[in-house]
Amino acid sequence: MTGDVIRRSTLADLAALVALEAGFPDEDRFDRRTWRRLLSGQSATLVHESGGVIDASAVLLFRQGSDIARLYSIAVAPAARGHGLGARLLAACEEHARSRGAKLIRLEVRSTNSSAHRLYEAAGYRVIAALESYYPDGEAAHRMEKVLIASSDGAP
Ligand SMILES: CC(C)(COP(=O)(O)OP(=O)(O)OC[C@H]1O[C@@H](n2cnc3c(N)ncnc32)[C@H](O)[C@@H]1OP(=O)(O)O)[C@@H](O)C(=O)NCCC(=O)NCCS
Repeated sequence: MTGDVIRRSTLADLAALVALEAGFPDEDRFDRRTWRRLLSGQSATLVHESGGVIDASAVLLFRQGSDIARLYSIAVAPAARGHGLGARLLAACEEHARSRGAKLIRLEVRSTNSSAHRLYEAAGYRVIAALESYYPDGEAAHRMEKVLIASSDGAP
């Protein structure tokens, strides 16, 4: 599709990233200050842009000396869901993590978030732990993990 791209995000995308999550529940979105920190630190934010509009984002965290990347967030605008965008963005995150030497990706997901579970399971993630009362509202999380196989493809 023309103008359809997955790319690294920059501080210039701050307002678009906040707007993307505007309709999400408070506990599931980042405020401007958090986005600013995520866009400036060791993390990598990847976005999907279509016709100049950002309609999906994903944040990866990296730690010095660790070969484990953490998928901190992935979000697709409600109107864009169900067309494989989440899966494409997740694959791009894996490529990016590989390009930075990561051997594993880990993430936490609400135990009741069935669409996210399906996305991760279809991509080869497996549950490695159940974390009781993980979220501030008391909900449990599942920690999931995928081993990254080396690839020679380019990464955003
Ligand atoms: C979880 C989330 C990122 C998934 O994004 P998405 O773009 O809808 O994901 P996909 O389109 O890749 O997959 C979703 C469904 O579309 C289906 N699908 C994928 N490609 C498709 C295509 N080309 N045509 C039709 N359907 C397709 C998938 O099979 C999947 O179906 P299933 O849920 O019944 O298994 C999205 O729902 C979201 O942003 N949720 C809110 C934030 C959130 O919960 N994030 C995760 C926190 S850990």
